[in-house]
Amino acid sequence: SYRVVVLVSGSGSNLQALLDVCGQGANASATPIDAKIVGVLSNREEALALPRATRAGVATAVVKHRDYAERIDFDAEMIKHIDAWAPDMVILAGFMRILTPDFVSHYSGRLINIHPSLLPKYKGLHTHQRALDAGDTKHGCSVHFVTPELDGGPVIAQHRVSVHQHDNVDSLAQRVHQAEHQLYPRVLGWLASGRLRWQDGQIALDNKPLLEPLQ
Ligand code: GAR
Repeated sequence: SYRVVVLVSGSGSNLQALLDVCGQGANASATPIDAKIVGVLSNREEALALPRATRAGVATAVVKHRDYAERIDFDAEMIKHIDAWAPDMVILAGFMRILTPDFVSHYSGRLINIHPSLLPKYKGLHTHQRALDAGDTKHGCSVHFVTPELDGGPVIAQHRVSVHQHDNVDSLAQRVHQAEHQLYPRVLGWLASGRLRWQDGQIALDNKPLLEPLQ
């Protein structure tokens, strides 16, 4: 089946949603998609995402960015681990390091990210605070193919949420997280089934409508 490597830095709630939809681990979906997470790589050994992977029986690796003076060497070490898992797709799920153009081009068309804003709004950090400061009534998350431009690659899909009158960063972040846990597994399902592809430098979709309800 479709082989997936997930890169993480933090709590791994998106990793958990992906494990679940692949039928891996304790909360596994009864009707999993035809994809398998074959490895999880973290740049932080204390990332709570790592025990989630281990509990699901998935191999893990830690490559600490602090051990490398140059980004290019850090990225090269990550590539060694990732390529040993032979992935069809590399998924960034709360991975908080900027990747070199060499890394991005090595995985051209095989690298996607989830970002907590409605891109092209709020690339970079502190997206929830920035949405609140702007007085936005809608916020959300985006899944996109990764290109060398930070948070600037072609958007595959977005999940919109409302901003409530009394929201603060935490309440808004929580709502966006829930949206992410719906959106990312759904996109992985489209990729694994071949309905969504990267072709000639752009997104290709099947004619069938994508937004069937999840089972
Ligand atoms: C998610 O909200 C994700 O969108 C964000 O980090 C969080 C990770 O949560 N990613 C970025 O900000 C990327 N620049 P998780 O570890 O619980 O999945």
